[in-house]
Order: sequence, then structure tokens, then C-alpha cells
Amino acid sequence: MKGIIFVIFKEFVESKYSKDVYGKVINELGNPAIVETGDYDDAVAIKACELVGKQVNKSAMDILNEYGRYFPVSPKVNAVYKIYFFKKNAKEFLLNMDYVHETITKTISNAKPPRFKYENTAPDKLEMTYTSPRNLGKFFENLVLGVADKYNEKVSIKPLASSEPNTHKIEITFLNKEKYVK
Ligand code: HEM
Repeated sequence: MKGIIFVIFKEFVESKYSKDVYGKVINELGNPAIVETGDYDDAVAIKACELVGKQVNKSAMDILNEYGRYFPVSPKVNAVYKIYFFKKNAKEFLLNMDYVHETITKTISNAKPPRFKYENTAPDKLEMTYTSPRNLGKFFENLVLGVADKYNEKVSIKPLASSEPNTHKIEITFLNKEKYVK
């Protein structure tokens, strides 16, 4: 997992919980140096979520999902990846995500980026299929909600059946009609 994910995780925990909570987590992990360009084992990310959860009485999955919702509104993500945020609405932003994940992980030797397929079924709808051996379907949904927050939009998400392994398919309806239906 790319180091930038941990750098943002620190920002998330400190802003949503506290510096104290984050301090304990990093201490229990043995004070690893977190650098943006580093590469870290997925297990460390799960452990970090577990350690936050323990302190605030939530499950590791709750923390991961909260992180997903936070990620697209993070000031640091918006600064570092500014060029990807020039899209005019949440749908346009999401339609660029397959390209973004493929591109930014090219330089990491063992990166396994998630991939996305799209079916543009209506101006205010988008079917999006997430594929990853990590199978983080709920995390993916929370990221979509975070993108809506970022663009001051509301969306509804309906899970759809998907027969392919390691996939999670959803239908997103963009509820701010004025941005989509002319
Ligand atoms: C500009 C915004 C974004 C950037 C820069 C970004 C970047 C990244 C990076 C670097 C990883 C780690 C990949 C690895 O180490 O293998 C990752 C993971 C992930 N990203 Fe993004 N991401 C962004 C937005 C999104 C959005 C909007 C979604 C979903 C709609 C998404 C879904 C995921 C998921 C589900 C993972 C977990 C890895 C997996 O499932 O295999 N990301 N992202």
C-alpha cells in the first residue's frame, strides 16, 4: 500500500479523533517512519484501523469506511492530486478514477491498484464495477459518498448483482438534477 495512504490516514485520525489517538496507534505499531513514497504491507493498514477502533469503540471496518468517506475531502489529497479535481461534477470525477489508479501506481513495483468499469446508463446515473482482490466493497461505496461530499452533491447507491469474482457493482444516482439533466 502506497505511503501517501498512511500520510492521509494520519490527517484523518487527527482531525476526526485526536492527535493523542493517532500517537497511540503509531506507538503500538512500533513507530515506523511513514513516507509518502514508501510502500507498506496491507496488514499494517488493517492493524492501524484496528488500533484506532479499539480506542474509540468501533470495529476496524468502521474506521476503514470512515476513512474512505474522508479521503476525497482531505485537504492534502486535494492539494497533492489537484489536477484530478478539475472535473465539473462527481460523475466526471468518478469516470476518471480507473485512469488515475492505473497511472499513479505504475511506478510502484508490487502495487495492485483497484480497477473500475463503467456503464453510463443515463445522464444522472452511472453503473460502476470495482475489481480488486482486496474486496473492499463497502470502502469503495464510502469513497463514492466522499466524492459526492467533495462536490457538494447527494447520491444514492444501489448494489447490483455481479457474477465476476472480486467485484462489487453499484448503480449511482446523482440527485442534484440541475448538474446533470439539462
Ligand atoms: C484523487 C483521488 C484518489 C487517489 C489519488 C487515489 C489513490 C489511491 C492509491 C495510491 C491507492 C493504493 C493502491 C495500492 O497501494 O495498491 C488507492 C486505493 C484504493 N482506492 Fe483510491 N484514490 C483516489 C480516489 C478514489 C476513489 C474516488 C475511489 C472509489 C470510488 C477509490 C477507490 C480505492 C479503493 C477501493 C482502494 C483500495 C485498494 C483496493 O481495493 O485494492 N479511490 N487509491
